[in-house]
Amino acid sequence: MTNAAAQPGENSWRHGADARAGAYLDHARSIRGEVRFQLVTRALVRRLPGRPCRVVDIGGGFGRQAVLLARAGHSVTVVDGDETLLGAAADLLAAEEPEVGRRVSLVQGLGEQAVELVGTGFDLVCCHSVLLYLDDPDPLLDVLARLVAPGGLVSVLTVNRDSLALRDGLQGDWRGALATLLESREQGGRYLPTRPDTPLDLGRRLAALGVPPVEWHGVRVFSDHRSGEPSPEEFADLCELEWQAGLRDPYRQFARLFHLVARREAELP
Ligand SMILES: C[S@@+](CC[C@H](N)C(=O)[O-])C[C@H]1O[C@@H](n2cnc3c(N)ncnc32)[C@H](O)[C@@H]1O
Repeated sequence: MTNAAAQPGENSWRHGADARAGAYLDHARSIRGEVRFQLVTRALVRRLPGRPCRVVDIGGGFGRQAVLLARAGHSVTVVDGDETLLGAAADLLAAEEPEVGRRVSLVQGLGEQAVELVGTGFDLVCCHSVLLYLDDPDPLLDVLARLVAPGGLVSVLTVNRDSLALRDGLQGDWRGALATLLESREQGGRYLPTRPDTPLDLGRRLAALGVPPVEWHGVRVFSDHRSGEPSPEEFADLCELEWQAGLRDPYRQFARLFHLVARREAELP
C-alpha cells in the first residue's frame, strides 16, 4: 500500500481494493468496529420517524449498517462498487432472520450513479467511511442530496481533520503526529491515502445543497488510538461512554470520526 494522495477526481479505495477490502473487513468486524456501528445506529434510530423507512446506504460495504437498520424494521438498499464486500454482505444477510434479510437488497455500482440505479425519495441516505477516499467529494454529495426525500435525512461518517494527529500522538509517534498536525493529512506508510473533512466544512457543503446539518457526534473518542482490542465484556460500558462523550464538547472534537446528520429541505436550491 502506498500513501500517495489521491489524484484530482480520483477514488483512492479503487487502487488496491482487494487488499483494502480484507483490511477493512478485519477492522469492521472487530469490537472497535462494532462500537462505531452501534453509535451511528443509535444516532439514526432516534432521528427516524416511528414507521418503516426506505434507506439507501451508499458504499455500504459488507452490509453491517444495513442489517442493524433492517433489524429496526427499515428497508435498506446497499449500493457498493466492491464485489468482494457485496459477497461478504450476502453472507451476512444469509445468517440473519429471513424477515431481516428480506429487507436488505444489494446493488453493485458506484454511488455517483445511484440515482440511475435505485431512484430517489429515500427517508434516509447513509454514506459512511466513503468520502475520505474521494479526492473531490462534491459529485457524491450532490447525489446524496438528490437521493433523499424532502424532510428526509442524510447521514455521513468520515474522518475528522481537526483531530487527525491525536492517534499518532497518543500512540507515542511524536514525529508522525507532528507531520500529521502540520499537513492535516496522515503521514507514513501505515495509512491509506485519505482526505479528512471537518464537521463545519461538510455541514456548509451539504447546506449549500439544500440539506443543512441537524447535529454531529464524535465517534470513538477514547478507544480509537488504543492498540489492544477491548474485550467483549467491556463492550456495553465502552459503547455508553463513547456515546455520552460523542455528544459533548470538548470530547466529541477529539474523536477520530465524526457523524453528521442533515435534513433535506422541502425544495432543493
Ligand atoms: C471503508 S468501507 C466503508 C463501508 C461501510 N459504509 C461502513 O461504514 O463500514 C468503504 C466502502 O466504500 C465503497 N466505495 C468507495 N467508493 C465508492 C463509490 N464511489 N461508490 C460506491 N461505493 C464506494 C467501497 O467499495 C467500500 O465498501
